[in-house]
Amino acid sequence: MILYTLVTKPPFFLPISYKVVERPAFVAYVVAGYPSPDLSVDILLQLEKGGVDLIELGIPFTDPLADGPTIQAAHITALENGIDIDGCMQLMAEARKQGLTIPVLFMGYYNPIMQYGEKELVEKCASSGIDGYIVVDLPPEEAVSFRELCANAGLSYIPLITPSTSEGRVQRLVQIADSFVYIVSRSGVTGARKSLDSNLPELLGRVQKYTTLPLAVGFGVNTHEHFKDVGSMADGVVIGSQFITVMRNAAPGKVPEAVRQYAEEVSGRTCGDIKREKPLVKFGSVEGNEKIAGVQSLLPDRFGEFGGQYIPEALYDCVSELERAYVKCRDDPAFWEEVRSFYPYMGRPSPLHFADRLTAKCGGAQIYLKREDLCHTGSHKLNNAIGQALVAKRLGKSRIIAETGAGQHGVGTATICAKLGLKCIIYMGSEDMRRQALNVFRIRMLGGEVIPATTGSRTLKDAVNEAMRDWVTNVQSTHYLVGSAIGCHPFPTMVRDFQSVIGKETKEQMKELTSRLPDAVVACVGGGSNSIGMFHPFIEDTSVRLIGAEAAGDGVDTAKHSATISAGTLGVFHGAKTFLLQDSKGQIMETHSVSAGLDYPGVGPEHAWLRATGRAEYYPVSDAQALQGFRSLTQLEGIIPALESSHAVYQAMQVAAKMSPDQQLVICVSGRGDKDVNTVAEVLPKIGPQIGWDLRFEEDPTQNPHRYH
Ligand SMILES: Cc1ncc(COP(=O)(O)O)c(C=O)c1O
Repeated sequence: MILYTLVTKPPFFLPISYKVVERPAFVAYVVAGYPSPDLSVDILLQLEKGGVDLIELGIPFTDPLADGPTIQAAHITALENGIDIDGCMQLMAEARKQGLTIPVLFMGYYNPIMQYGEKELVEKCASSGIDGYIVVDLPPEEAVSFRELCANAGLSYIPLITPSTSEGRVQRLVQIADSFVYIVSRSGVTGARKSLDSNLPELLGRVQKYTTLPLAVGFGVNTHEHFKDVGSMADGVVIGSQFITVMRNAAPGKVPEAVRQYAEEVSGRTCGDIKREKPLVKFGSVEGNEKIAGVQSLLPDRFGEFGGQYIPEALYDCVSELERAYVKCRDDPAFWEEVRSFYPYMGRPSPLHFADRLTAKCGGAQIYLKREDLCHTGSHKLNNAIGQALVAKRLGKSRIIAETGAGQHGVGTATICAKLGLKCIIYMGSEDMRRQALNVFRIRMLGGEVIPATTGSRTLKDAVNEAMRDWVTNVQSTHYLVGSAIGCHPFPTMVRDFQSVIGKETKEQMKELTSRLPDAVVACVGGGSNSIGMFHPFIEDTSVRLIGAEAAGDGVDTAKHSATISAGTLGVFHGAKTFLLQDSKGQIMETHSVSAGLDYPGVGPEHAWLRATGRAEYYPVSDAQALQGFRSLTQLEGIIPALESSHAVYQAMQVAAKMSPDQQLVICVSGRGDKDVNTVAEVLPKIGPQIGWDLRFEEDPTQNPHRYH
């Protein structure tokens, strides 16, 4: 005999057997709109028929950085199928209409939610039959207001606990759980695994010490054996990637059926045998919010409203550990002594000198060049790589991972890893590997391993995604040496501090050379590290204009650019709230720049703040204009700059021309252009005619030695 209990609000009924049989709840994760929107409602219904007690419905996102390849691919297909949040809600409303009774949680990343509007979304969810939320990159510290909204609308908010969650944090997280706790069984991204983590009983024991709430375990479960094993220890078993694989492999027209069959097989039961002792989901309490809201970071984690820590739970404690370590280093004169001991190796201080012919050409301000291109490895990137590698050493991390766009940060990281004897892995978009083959080779020669990122635009953002996935997986042994002033706190602050040597030296050198401060400093902005390094020491010197040059690619009025501040909107990406290139639904857009190092859809949060407060100015510079800057510095000063730096050169020339000759301006020449020679040769046939530069290369230059001038 079967009884039904009404749990808090209709239409949510959980079937409860008269004679209760102990068994775990079966939780299924599927992506809305995968493999196609027409199948989604039937898939949800078949899951229920197959014995699933609770569904996590994935909201598709362009950059699901806590997910493995199977779920990533499902997100991309669902987006191609046109599924957005409204689409997810329509599917759900239809599924409820057709008789779906089990609870359904939305599971997704924060940016699409933020763009939709938290309040509106939560209200609509409640009326579309959604019962709660799991937000992968919104740790409860960032979720205080969202959680409150959910509770007011009667929705549950589910925290995650991972193997890397510390004991103290477990205690706090279980206090804010209002229905069940999601236990991530192993470090890493989602994906089916051959075996389960042998530490699972220990992890569950650690959580059970502090709560009697049900615990549902996910990540890696895919066979009946796993299901039984996990089910013998936990209150719920979550399966995700394997459902996607089953759908992908199902015969045409048989997808919902295959889903049901797999559900029945993996759980070892059928619909006639559905019994749950207690519900997993209950609603509507916000107790504990104050405990989370009261947790303070050691350093300010925001610049105005920008920044923060929008990261998967698995990274939270590691990032806090990094902050503690960095604060200790920052306050320790011996640490800075150690950093400075590398100056001879790095070629610091980098020279600053007057650019007489460039100045004459512009006919305005006196132009000076800060020569980061003369630093060891050819760019400013080594300043940060050395600083962070020394922090990592103090943390006892022996494995370093990094992302790179132009390859300069990869080279800098591989260099310091060689010098300190650390293992080095560099993620690089496969398109960037093609554009920057020379740097790929340099990294390999230095002993680093280069792993291509082959998803999305195959550029810098995808390399960051892959590095994040690696970090989530290997967080205990690994330091993620972030290459720009981007990402979650404390990276933007830490990278800024290490790069501030640029601005500090500039200040001293300008005073020595000219006895005063410059009137303007100009730098290119990708993620924003060389520019924030130049700007930061001048922020209080309000007579100094701070000018950033962004990559406008084919133009900000086209779809092909990376001018994030000039054309972006507020969002959350790669751990921080900042300006982003995104569509109206919060999906991250593909970017373009002739320079791989500026080809990124976000920007460091401190720049977003400098822009919002009006302290710094940012201008878009197109590919063709950057080539003009490149040509000018090369032919007037005999310095071949990186294409990234060429954006700053062009913008500086425009600004200088409007200034008077008694004023002075400094350009940060962030890197040298050797790495870009091939790219310039490749793009000149197209861009050359636009800027009047005919420099065609021939297969064999000896055939026509007089053509070049
Ligand atoms: C020479 C050079 N300049 C600038 C950049 C842009 O990075 P950021 O904005 O962090 O300085 C890069 C990135 O690879 C680079 O290689």
